[in-house]
Amino acid sequence: MSTLNVPGIAYGGDYNPEQWPEEVWAEDVRLMREAGVTMVSVGIFSWALLEPSEGVYDFSLLDRILDLLHENGIAADLATPTAAPPAWFFRAHPEALPVDRDGRQLSYGSRQTFCPSSPAYREAALRIAGELAARYAEHPAVVMWHVHNEYGCHNAECYCDTSAEAFRGWLRARYENLDALNDAWGTTFWSQRYYDWDEIIPPRATGAVPNPAHQLDWRRFCSEELLSLYKAEREVLREAAPGTPATTNFMVMYAFDALDYWRWAPELDIVSNDHYLRSTDPESEIDIALSGDLVRSLAGGRPWLLMEHSTGAVNWQPVNRAKTAGELRRNALAHVAHGADGIAYFQWRAAKAGAEQWHSAMLPHAGTDSQIWRDVVALGADLKALAEVRGSTGTASVAVVWDWNARWALELPSQPSEQVRYLDLVRSWYEPLWRSGVAVDFVRPDADLSSYRLVLAPNLYLVDDEGAANLTRFAEGGGTLAVGFHSGAVDENCHVRLGGYPGAFRDVLGVRTDELFPLLPGESVSLSGGGTASLWSERVHLAGAETITSYTEGPLTGIPAVTRHGCGTGTAWYLATLPDPSTLAALLDRIRAEAGVAPVRVTPEGVEAVLRRGPEADYLFLINHGDGGAEVDVAPDATELLAGERVHGGRVTVAAGDVMVVREPRSATP
Ligand code: GLA
Repeated sequence: MSTLNVPGIAYGGDYNPEQWPEEVWAEDVRLMREAGVTMVSVGIFSWALLEPSEGVYDFSLLDRILDLLHENGIAADLATPTAAPPAWFFRAHPEALPVDRDGRQLSYGSRQTFCPSSPAYREAALRIAGELAARYAEHPAVVMWHVHNEYGCHNAECYCDTSAEAFRGWLRARYENLDALNDAWGTTFWSQRYYDWDEIIPPRATGAVPNPAHQLDWRRFCSEELLSLYKAEREVLREAAPGTPATTNFMVMYAFDALDYWRWAPELDIVSNDHYLRSTDPESEIDIALSGDLVRSLAGGRPWLLMEHSTGAVNWQPVNRAKTAGELRRNALAHVAHGADGIAYFQWRAAKAGAEQWHSAMLPHAGTDSQIWRDVVALGADLKALAEVRGSTGTASVAVVWDWNARWALELPSQPSEQVRYLDLVRSWYEPLWRSGVAVDFVRPDADLSSYRLVLAPNLYLVDDEGAANLTRFAEGGGTLAVGFHSGAVDENCHVRLGGYPGAFRDVLGVRTDELFPLLPGESVSLSGGGTASLWSERVHLAGAETITSYTEGPLTGIPAVTRHGCGTGTAWYLATLPDPSTLAALLDRIRAEAGVAPVRVTPEGVEAVLRRGPEADYLFLINHGDGGAEVDVAPDATELLAGERVHGGRVTVAAGDVMVVREPRSATP
């Protein structure tokens, strides 16, 4: 892991000067300075300009841009332009165009329309990356390589014959022989046994439901195939400029789930992420928090960069909502609160042409006489005031288990209920923790859990033996574990764990389920002790656990819905259904109180409290998402950094919609 050679909290965005006449550039850099911009990402989609025909290069434009940035004290995060191969490439290599599940070959004409397994693409991508690296390795503006852009955003899967061959190669390495593959995939079902490697194809559109293990391995392969492209580019860059860190921008939230970022993150020198709000989410601040905690966790607790978000509306949702007053500031500072050491936008200047002409930017179509511009300039000043926060990190005693393999498997077709969505479940458990100000890390099932008191697995449909044993050991060794329904159900090959559900967690949870009763959309059942449950239920039998709540209506009347099991020196809870939000919140409050987990700070409703800990001080971020002012207790010896004022009387008042960052003496608690 390296650090970024930009002072304080980096600030900027994607900069596409190639879309504008050169006389605009001088205004760009002048305004960047006015806004306090310190780093911009350049060249992301400039392949067609840099290499107008195969092997012919023209770097004159990029030379001038990088020089101009450097003269103005603005650092460059220089991108390899490989997310958008030029038209000439596809005319020479039509076989590199991707094929979708239905066998349709796509055309060029947008971006990222290439087959990840195409040898011609790989060769061309590494060639342009090599040229860039050689030319700019020593350029003083370049502080980081931005490899590609959002790998897999549009082409995570290609079903062409070249991909099929690469998939078979990956399977051969994984299974070594066909018997092992046939066993893992359970191919005796529906006459699917393979006798020759060449019989195996990607899970293309077929008459009925494809084999689950086949589909799961396909998802794994697709993630690895793109990762190998990233690593190949990174190696080329590293060779030319060993001291310059490389990143690529992740997309951990929204609907994107194509990449197993636990496998990607260790390959990045600095982890970066893109985050966009969903117009339909009334509490997108929770999405930001969850995303930030997940990215910080992927980065191993180290600071990360927010590579993209938006100043206002995006252009790719059915209706693209603008931000409300103060939302731009709250959003950006919330990312910092959750560990970002850099805040960047897509994009610097709003485009007037092209597919993203209706996407917001730091400098909007309206120019500087606009609310967005004023907010952008003010944010620059805020970030400058937070310079000393750089390098500090979070501190959590609660871990939420997050696993892309489990997510992929849970969301395969032909499940007991297609209503069960991984991210929804994680969010429903995360929300009450967020509301109570409890700090959270995300972990892999096999992570070192020794620093946590409480581990939550909202869903772990798929878990391998190692992950299950790790979580079991944690509970038996004195921790508190809470597991959500339909967990432990299958192994890493999607084979059901026999003998009763929740398979791998039956013993640690002290329960045994003999049949699942998913609930219909809109259906709910009442619970003893108040509240209702929806989405899921199952016929749980106690096998050592005690009942906390049971159903009071429907076919499972009297059957446990939530259980608690003393195991070893710890405790394991099973939530065999989805309680309504306030019942779930009360339950998680009880679980965490029993586990001895305290919030970062008790705050009035609507005020988010997040702590970053530095070597000498704690930084308490207070973000008021509510409509009224709120008082929060702080350390007697504290300073508010955004206003640069000492706090008197051990208490601050956070105005409605406002953000405060309070430096306190480093507390002794871990
Ligand atoms: C993604 C891409 C950007 C841009 C934005 C628009 O994050 O990386 O190039 O298309 O979406 O929201």
